[in-house]
Amino acid sequence: MGTADSKKDVLHVEGGKPLSGTIKVRGAKNLVSKAMVAALLAPGTSVLKNVPEIRDVSVVSDLLRLHGVDVNFDGENGIVAIDATKVYLADVADVDTLSGSSRIPILFSGPLVHRLGEAFIPSLGGCNIGGRPIDFHLETLRKLGAKVDKEHTDGVHITAPDGLKGAKIHLPYPSVGATEQTLLAAVLADGRTELSGAATEPEIMDLVAILQKMGAIISVDVDRTFRIEGVKELKGYTHTALPDRIEAASWASAALATRGDIFVKGATQPDMTTFLNVFRKIGGEFDIRDNGIRFWHPGGDLHPIALETDVHPGFMTDWQQPLVVALTQANGLSTMHETVYENRFGFTEPLIEMGATVQLYRECLGALPCRFQQRNFKHSAVIFGPTPLTGRDIEVPDLRGGFSHLIAALTANGPSNVHGISLIDRGYADFRGKLFALGAKIG
Ligand code: EPZ
Repeated sequence: MGTADSKKDVLHVEGGKPLSGTIKVRGAKNLVSKAMVAALLAPGTSVLKNVPEIRDVSVVSDLLRLHGVDVNFDGENGIVAIDATKVYLADVADVDTLSGSSRIPILFSGPLVHRLGEAFIPSLGGCNIGGRPIDFHLETLRKLGAKVDKEHTDGVHITAPDGLKGAKIHLPYPSVGATEQTLLAAVLADGRTELSGAATEPEIMDLVAILQKMGAIISVDVDRTFRIEGVKELKGYTHTALPDRIEAASWASAALATRGDIFVKGATQPDMTTFLNVFRKIGGEFDIRDNGIRFWHPGGDLHPIALETDVHPGFMTDWQQPLVVALTQANGLSTMHETVYENRFGFTEPLIEMGATVQLYRECLGALPCRFQQRNFKHSAVIFGPTPLTGRDIEVPDLRGGFSHLIAALTANGPSNVHGISLIDRGYADFRGKLFALGAKIG
């Protein structure tokens, strides 16, 4: 994804000062965008609360509007009202203008096919952290009876003249997006759908809660199999989005790396237990309160750790990048085995230039061999610390990698210029305001 290197797109950071204070997180980016798509399934109005002011929300709003849907976002109060009574097929050229800006358009497939009999999905954007194919999504739609035409050079045309029909589907890997794709397409399909090998991230379960409020019948077995009984129609919903556990963990890692103390209002414990265990093992302290979680560095040395990312309930891949910056400050050798994306360590290169000692390996440096074993991907990292970091010019590579660079710049001695900073607006609402509130020296 490109980054406009205008003056506005560069953040000057004077590092070396602990971040300290209170900030607030709202609903999870990775639920909110999907919940907005779910509204498309029913004529009438849906209301989503706790919505953050991030670019992914505006991209989905624009995409919904192009399809005739009325979207009203009260950013101050975080409430979005979506009236999907009227839905029409958007102009292909208009939809194309949004191509490359997000992964979400592919999830419009099922709802649009149900409402209109067809859908056009532009070629997708999202973070450059691996190949990120959509083969599982398309296979799922085919199994449900859709005809998928990839002829169009810039996207995919999906039709289902006879409607979608329940099917037995197995995912070769528990993909978050493909699980959501199946749920959004199967709820109104004719008959039953069985989806095995699915992902069960808390954001997916919150989407299931929304679909249930809309009238869907969905159950999940202990072996990660969803069973969906298609219903004839759904109605609008009112829902409060679950908090953003990725943003909360990002600020927690920032507190650890800068030897700071951050109270993350709105963060909740249940969906963060895996992160909290790791945070404690490294030597971070936290205090869980009714209205949020306080994270702080208690002084002394941080401890190294051997960790691997995994699907839920494992350690999230999106927690990995910010935590690696904190691990550059731990005393000893840490290992991080990335098993979800094949290419999520590109962000470590600037860290090394800032003084970190990080080495990447093609081998699986974890308890279990992963899908990337014997393939040419440097998907394991060894981090040796503590290493003082020195400020420099950095180019933001992707959303989480970019936030990690920001943490590194805040941890480093001396000034840094972080370029392409607007990329971070995709998933971190008002991060500049939050940094000011935490006493960061930025400009
Ligand atoms: C979601 O992406 C999130 N994005 C990601 O967050 C998150 O990292 C990821 O889930 C894993 O938790 C959103 O929710 C918008 P996947 P998604 O399908 O659904 C492979 C962030 O920073 N795969 O679970 O696109 C894929 O290449 C973002 O907030 C296929 O091979 O992820 C990857 O290796 C980054 N074929 C793995 O599965 C497919 O058709 C997991 O991807 C689909 C996926």
